[in-house]
Amino acid sequence: MSLENKVAIITGAARGIGFAVAKRFVMDGAKVVIADVDDSAGEAAAEDLKGLGEATYIHCNVAERLDVRNLVAETLNAYGDIDVLVNNAGIVAGADFLDLEVEDFDRVLSINLRGSFLCSQAVARHMVEKVQDGGEPGCIINMSSINAVVAIPNQVPYCVSKGGISQLTKVSALSLAQYGIRVNAIGPGSIMTDMLASVNSDKAAKNRILSRTPMLRIGEASEIAGVAAFLASPDASYVTGQTIFADGGRLPLNYTVAVPE
Ligand SMILES: NC(=O)c1ccc[n+]([C@@H]2O[C@H](COP(=O)([O-])OP(=O)(O)OC[C@H]3O[C@@H](n4cnc5c(N)ncnc54)[C@H](O)[C@@H]3O)[C@@H](O)[C@H]2O)c1
Repeated sequence: MSLENKVAIITGAARGIGFAVAKRFVMDGAKVVIADVDDSAGEAAAEDLKGLGEATYIHCNVAERLDVRNLVAETLNAYGDIDVLVNNAGIVAGADFLDLEVEDFDRVLSINLRGSFLCSQAVARHMVEKVQDGGEPGCIINMSSINAVVAIPNQVPYCVSKGGISQLTKVSALSLAQYGIRVNAIGPGSIMTDMLASVNSDKAAKNRILSRTPMLRIGEASEIAGVAAFLASPDASYVTGQTIFADGGRLPLNYTVAVPE
């Protein structure tokens, strides 16, 4: 149980990749806080995990400073500590570059990038205090994407936000290294969650993805949770400032692969 008795906050964990990370962390012995804006799904997710271990739901819009402050305070109140933060909450807003509304640009950036910054800063302040009091350093994991590197023309703010996450990961890792606090990111390829749901019913869209995926399959959320479990564990004790891409081989690929019928 590599996370025995560790306290972990996972944002956007009511469903999808965040929920898979929460489940894996609980199975690895952690006490998990599910932070989300979808209260009914969040409460249900926490209830679901209670059979496996310790989990609780706290409402938090990661883009709102007061919500984030409250998330940290309530977590400390409930569990007395925070060892791991996973900045996972994220949204998309599809529109061509020439048509994109500035409100949509701001909305995506405020959740995906500003939200990760707000949560990181608030939790890191607690982690630094703990280290200065002789406690153990914690770690932060940011959910990036292959779109931190490769772009999709009608996903402007999403790609920009994930590019920003790449630098947020590096700059916060450098700032916090002196305290032993590690910051890393995970860059998933295409993972079967609600974010990708339309692909299920659209064979052409699915084939487009598979033709860019040498492993010829869409990933499972649990495969991202496995990377998060590694990054949060003592096995990653000398890893900081990195993004680990779990993408079935997409980023190394030039051109496309043939998709069997
Ligand atoms: N699914 C993929 O293929 C894929 C690929 C690469 C990266 N990612 C990244 O993984 C993360 C999770 O994606 P997913 O596919 O599980 O998405 P999802 O849509 O299934 O779940 C996202 C969760 O975030 C919550 N959320 C939205 N806005 C929020 C806010 N302001 N504050 C707190 N919570 C909020 C939602 O309520 C939802 O529970 C995102 O950062 C996404 O960019 C996903």
